[in-house]
Amino acid sequence: MTIKKVGILTGGGDCPGLNSVLYGIMLKAFDAGVECVGIEKGWKGFIENLTIPLNIAEHDDLHTIGGTFLYTSRTNPFKSIQKAKTDEEKESLKEKISKEMAGKFAELGIDALIAIGGDDTLGVADALYKYSNAKVVGCPKTIDNDLAGTHYTFGFWSAVQLASNAMDNLTTTARSHQRVFIVEVMGRDAGFLTMYSGISSGADIILIPETPFDFERDVVEVLKKRANSGHKYHMIACSEGAYPDQESLKRDFKTITQETIDKLPKDVFGNPVLPALNISNILVKELNLRDDLKEVFAKNGVDFECRSVVLGHTMRAGTPNSFDRILGLRFGLAAMKLVLDGEFGKMVSLQGTDITTFPLKEGVKKKYIKPDSDKLELRDLMVKIRYKSREN
Ligand code: F6P
Repeated sequence: MTIKKVGILTGGGDCPGLNSVLYGIMLKAFDAGVECVGIEKGWKGFIENLTIPLNIAEHDDLHTIGGTFLYTSRTNPFKSIQKAKTDEEKESLKEKISKEMAGKFAELGIDALIAIGGDDTLGVADALYKYSNAKVVGCPKTIDNDLAGTHYTFGFWSAVQLASNAMDNLTTTARSHQRVFIVEVMGRDAGFLTMYSGISSGADIILIPETPFDFERDVVEVLKKRANSGHKYHMIACSEGAYPDQESLKRDFKTITQETIDKLPKDVFGNPVLPALNISNILVKELNLRDDLKEVFAKNGVDFECRSVVLGHTMRAGTPNSFDRILGLRFGLAAMKLVLDGEFGKMVSLQGTDITTFPLKEGVKKKYIKPDSDKLELRDLMVKIRYKSREN
């Protein structure tokens, strides 16, 4: 079947580079004589027929602009399956909803769909392909970089730069007041953003979800050693999803318990809303309860003061950096080529420096920092050598 009209949607959190992907798709589509239709607000617009025509002549330099002009939402068309009791029930409900959704292609007048999103949005695209053989292609987006099917998602490096700049800048306040700053970085349950921005800005302690921390050993003791070796201020980069290991949680924490973590609210896709925990603020409270730490600081001529800063949505804000503009354009071009070649059920992917493709069902799986990552080694060396190199 010749593709005449392609629908495009952006779902999940906004992300620098979304408009770059849109422009990449539109360039190739125009050249191939294919009409593009924008579906607004992600899967919500797909279900509710919210469409706008896309005329490339009106969008010169779209790839340089942040956010998504198609709007986005966290809409999970499969939300109702969360109530199903058995796996069989879940499967059959998923199949039913997918088939209903496949009917939307005709209603929307599109021959194929390009879904741009993270694991949640692309998970829906994958189910659509799996259960109804829909003509769908995926494009991996997220500042979290936690998708298995690509070395980097677009948006990640822009967010790393923003977080790194924020921590660089906060250093002047930390230094002026001789303070401890705990900077909370987005990323859900993956530590890429915190790790990369923390290393890049030279954070003194970096806490990520992949390596649950021991509060006594990894925070209190390190701060004491740093104070005793003459450090007067301290930057802690802390993932919003970082949490203490079980033993430390029971032994060291006075203000939260396991129940606090278990009872976090869930979003429409069933993910715990990690920012609701506000781990950086919890750490400030716990550190403030530590008279032993305050004594060590005082002995070294510093009044212990600790503050938390939540970077939050500032990390997704603003224009994409050059890397994400180029990656977005390349992803858009490749996604449109998949559509033209009739290669559905796939997502575009960056492997090394090459743009390739990946089956959606594999690519949407979650990715985490691996235990043998050189980034972990770098982090641990940076933390340790800073006080060790000053010890007598
Ligand atoms: O997945 C991207 C992300 O920015 C996460 O890092 C963060 O936890 C979440 O989205 C925040 O979502 P919202 O914009 O819905 O608050």
